[in-house]
Amino acid sequence: MRLTAEEKGMLSGSRGRACRKSMEILVALGKIYGARRLVPVTSVQVSGVSYKNLGDAGIEFLREMAEDGRARVKTTLNPAGMDLTDWRRLGIAPDFAAKQLEVIDAYRRLGLEISCTCTPYLAGNEPRLGDHIAWGESSAVIYANSVLGARTNREGGPSALAASLTGRTPLYGYHLDENRVATLVVDVTAAPASPEDFAAMGYAVGRAAGSGLPHFRGVEGRRASLEALKELSAALASSGGVAMFRMEGVTPETEGPPEGAEAISFGRRDLAEAIDGLSDEGDPDFVSVGCPHCSLEEVRTIAALLRERRVTREFWVCCSREVKRRSDDAGYTRAIEESGAKFACDTCMVVAPIETMGFRVVATNSAKACHYLRNAGLRVRFMGLERCAVEATRPG
Ligand code: F3S
Repeated sequence: MRLTAEEKGMLSGSRGRACRKSMEILVALGKIYGARRLVPVTSVQVSGVSYKNLGDAGIEFLREMAEDGRARVKTTLNPAGMDLTDWRRLGIAPDFAAKQLEVIDAYRRLGLEISCTCTPYLAGNEPRLGDHIAWGESSAVIYANSVLGARTNREGGPSALAASLTGRTPLYGYHLDENRVATLVVDVTAAPASPEDFAAMGYAVGRAAGSGLPHFRGVEGRRASLEALKELSAALASSGGVAMFRMEGVTPETEGPPEGAEAISFGRRDLAEAIDGLSDEGDPDFVSVGCPHCSLEEVRTIAALLRERRVTREFWVCCSREVKRRSDDAGYTRAIEESGAKFACDTCMVVAPIETMGFRVVATNSAKACHYLRNAGLRVRFMGLERCAVEATRPG
């Protein structure tokens, strides 16, 4: 792989140990994937923040990197395993909290923004069309590649951190035009209308697409709201390994599918089956929305649904601290908190240790959350935002 003089310097340790280690990671990855060179990145999103996933070995790695490593480009962080300030109110155990705060302290010393959100594009990290970036968090990666038209592979925690400390990533995969080509055409006749319809469609199509690139035709553009595309992105990336999709009339890269690409149809029956398949039996004892983290518009809707009502079940509204701040300013926070529902900033129902907190059945509007919560041994009920609010305030 060709390296510039500056990159060779980093590799030989001219900028310290953490930077050298980072270059070693990037060069090794580049060799594995056949990259000819590295490319400068404009931003990084680091995943691998929850202590639940990192463990003590992860803390040790971060501590070492923080000895002399510093971020060289804008770098934001994925959700942690708890709300960083209000963790006691969410019922997080003190020993878990202590470990989680150690993780955050290391990232702070590395110069990362302690944003703790999987929707960095709603909290000040919004790449432009054509930007090369190095993002972890599969739901944000697919949103950035598809909806924003930026270019990133699905980075793991160490490779994203390495990109942050060097400002580079290997040039392969979704950074190259030839890999941003549709592999599966999806002719949609189901008329998905709500974000939960888009989520269920994404979950079904993700299975069919595997790690390919689906190209959707026939979706009514006005239905493809930011919230719908956020849910679709997360679902495609969780049931499959999809890192990019195209949607005619919606996404910015307009190239059509290649001649002879495999095609499938997605009709009303497929949509109904996809929605049904996301739910188990059971009476929810926990309701959570915001996977990926809520937009301000979703918070506004929840506030309207909960105004002058009381929740009867634990109800978490997961969002970034930035969206929560805007919610405070707009007056939505009060209506939500007066109902007994809780904001869960910096975290979510999947990366927080909720399975150890006694909950058994979770109601959510996220297909991605259904996927991961089931894997963690919980039962799930999939429903839209409005029904989540009804469920949370139902007597009994
Ligand atoms: Fe985000 Fe947690 Fe879902 S990190 S995409 S809210 S699983």
